[in-house]
Amino acid sequence: MSKHTRRRFLEDSLLATTAALAAGSATSVLADDKKPAKGPNDKAVAAVIGVRGRGGSHIKDLTDRDDVDIAYVCDVDTGVGMERVEQIEKLQGRRPNFVQDMRKVFDDDSVDIVTIATPNAWHALAAIWAMQAGKDVYVEKPVSHNVSEGRRIVEAARKYNRICQTGTQIRSQPGTIEAIKYVHDGGIGEVKLARGLCYKRRNSIGHTPDSEVPEGVDYDLWLGPAPVRPFSQNRYHYNWHWNWAHGNGDLGNQGIHQMDVARWGLQADNLGYAVVSYGGRLGYEDDGETANTQVTIHDMGDGRRLVFEVRGLETEPLRGANVGNIFYGDKGYVVMTGYSTGAAYDLDGNLVKTFDAGGDHFGNFFDAVYARDHNLLNADILEGHLSSGLCHLGNISYRSGELISDNEIRERLAGDDEALDTFDRVYSHLTENGVNTSQTPIRFGQRLTFDPESETFVDNDDANASLTRDYREPFVVPAAGQV
Ligand SMILES: NC(=O)c1ccc[n+]([C@@H]2O[C@H](COP(=O)([O-])OP(=O)(O)OC[C@H]3O[C@@H](n4cnc5c(N)ncnc54)[C@H](O)[C@@H]3O)[C@@H](O)[C@H]2O)c1
Repeated sequence: MSKHTRRRFLEDSLLATTAALAAGSATSVLADDKKPAKGPNDKAVAAVIGVRGRGGSHIKDLTDRDDVDIAYVCDVDTGVGMERVEQIEKLQGRRPNFVQDMRKVFDDDSVDIVTIATPNAWHALAAIWAMQAGKDVYVEKPVSHNVSEGRRIVEAARKYNRICQTGTQIRSQPGTIEAIKYVHDGGIGEVKLARGLCYKRRNSIGHTPDSEVPEGVDYDLWLGPAPVRPFSQNRYHYNWHWNWAHGNGDLGNQGIHQMDVARWGLQADNLGYAVVSYGGRLGYEDDGETANTQVTIHDMGDGRRLVFEVRGLETEPLRGANVGNIFYGDKGYVVMTGYSTGAAYDLDGNLVKTFDAGGDHFGNFFDAVYARDHNLLNADILEGHLSSGLCHLGNISYRSGELISDNEIRERLAGDDEALDTFDRVYSHLTENGVNTSQTPIRFGQRLTFDPESETFVDNDDANASLTRDYREPFVVPAAGQV
């Protein structure tokens, strides 16, 4: 990217910040007493928020570039954050600032770009605050913790004219881009069924008593929008994925990647018309709350169906895929077995074509940032919202469910051969793992009809209440029209 283009991007960012401030829309409340010097000339100034696991990959991707200066590391856990500060100082030759409160980052006008890899419950608020302060944003998947939040981030991106990339990096893999194009172009004929698979072993997290907040951790900031409750290592680093207050289970963890690919392949550009989900946390008892075994069936309109399967117990792959996708056409099928790898087959199972090429998702983000054009993004926030939203809809149905017998499940699925076949496979899988569903029954969710236009359930107040949450002040995601 030319120096001129970079400078223009920095100037545009400044203009947008000034405009947002003039409109009284910046919400940062903390004074900033530690402004870093602007990065070496013409470098985009970045902050990474949440730096333990995935945040480490953000740091690597940013420090691999020569056009970025990381000015801030932000993490509520001082120990985690300071380790990253040392690492970045070695990599880029300049020591970034460390802050626990992300609002200090947003208060600093010199920051152009914010990347977010906190637990899910913080994604929307962090992204919206950042864009209100004029920053461009790379936000991890799922972009939201509930459906309404996702739509609010899209609203903020458009209102403040910010670039907002979703962290679904598969969207930038040429192998998958080619495979999806092949599906769209009719390579396997008409496609009415897409399967997303998250066959990923997840061990029990056991039981751990609540304990004191570790030294150096700002627990109030960690909780953020979620209700206050005692600290537990079993709800803290990474384990929060299995707790509804901060996570969305494996459907919204690994699963969102393959949910996104399935929706992409089906050319479904909304949240669909109905959803039903069933499953359970089966095979062990621990402090986790979310399902480790779950099937979610989405009616995406025009006879298109998206079926998602989460399997956290030992399992064989399906048509060679563990974490992947299968698209079924009337002339063949495509199986994606990795983030950039897959193959097309004819109806007899003969190999027709393979797909395999990796790409650069952060590179795509920067291209869009410099061009000031969100249409260049491979995973614009709208895509992130829709695919994250499908995961949330699945979880809403699942959580609305009741524990019923296998026979009753078969009765409810009667007449739907594909759904019965999927259930039979799940049932065998559970049996192979020693799960006796007459002792630990499966939770079968309500079939919920949805209006994708208004993004609300049809005539169902309880389900509609689950599209958002009660936010704990001051960590409140603005309501519609108020971002
Ligand atoms: N795109 C991918 O392939 C990919 C891979 C892994 C994780 N992720 C996503 O990245 C996110 C982080 O996952 P992880 O595995 O790194 O989790 P993690 O628990 O290991 O790390 C999260 C970090 O965020 C910090 N944090 C929590 N609240 C914060 C706040 N308010 N401000 C600043 N820091 C805060 C925590 O202290 C921790 O260091 C998740 O949303 C996950 O879905 C994406």
